[in-house]
Amino acid sequence: MSTGKIVAGFLAPHPPHLVYGENPPQNEPRSRGGWEPLRWAYERARQSIEEMKPDVLLVHSPHWITQQGHHFLGVPRLSGRSVDPIFPNLFRYDFDLEVDVELAEACAAEGHELGLYTKMMRNPDFRVDYGTITTLHMVRPQWDIPVVGISSNNSPYYLTLDEGLEEMDRLGKATAKAIEKSGRRAVLLASNTLCHHHFHEEPAIPEDMSKEHPQNYEGYLWDVRIIEMLRAGRTRDVFDILPQFINEAFAEVKSGGFTWMFAAMGYPEIPGELHGYGTVIGTGNAVMEWDLEKSASI
Ligand SMILES: [Fe+2]
Repeated sequence: MSTGKIVAGFLAPHPPHLVYGENPPQNEPRSRGGWEPLRWAYERARQSIEEMKPDVLLVHSPHWITQQGHHFLGVPRLSGRSVDPIFPNLFRYDFDLEVDVELAEACAAEGHELGLYTKMMRNPDFRVDYGTITTLHMVRPQWDIPVVGISSNNSPYYLTLDEGLEEMDRLGKATAKAIEKSGRRAVLLASNTLCHHHFHEEPAIPEDMSKEHPQNYEGYLWDVRIIEMLRAGRTRDVFDILPQFINEAFAEVKSGGFTWMFAAMGYPEIPGELHGYGTVIGTGNAVMEWDLEKSASI
């Protein structure tokens, strides 16, 4: 078997509003659009993924929360209705997805080797969380590429931040090893918002974009600073200030997907391509791409 590789990583946040704004047939609520700049950003990401022709998409979601260890979807086909508990008025989505169980099992085994508690999720009726579904829909609405879904152990929330992120670093390294042995061409998706300060009331028309803007100016400034560093390829500097960013901007990268993805990619000091930035209920969201294959050929 040929050696597998991580083709690219994407920062691919999961506000369900983006699915709601798009009106795909799988989502029951209807909208008059909204959040176009972010949806146009995802159109660019979709095009990149189309060209990369990956065998598998791996996604780490902050909204599949498992207190005991890191879990992996472990059923070959999962279907059902995913509902956002905070925004059930916007997201009631009928999903039907194929899981790359072999690779998921390999990731779990490699994680165990590195001292993590890992577990396969074998419930055939499992309702996949809206974070996983939204990110996957936004990058590949055709649903024709198998996926590996990884839960959020949320260790950075109940261990110290450093300890928690160190676990995510190990999970990333385990993921990379498993992909290499698998022979797959893999794309990684870190399903994270940046600044997570948000409004507490929804406008009468949720998609009324005259009401949409950053909730917090300092948080916005933080997002711009982090994005500029990522666009410049200053990965090491970003990780140096990540704890401060997390604490001051209440950043959702705390849940670990961002660290997992960069650890798996080997923290490349390459410029990230910004596809777009926008707010959703005041939170900061960037769609960004790190194309490892392209950067290796330059
Ligand atoms: Fe979230």
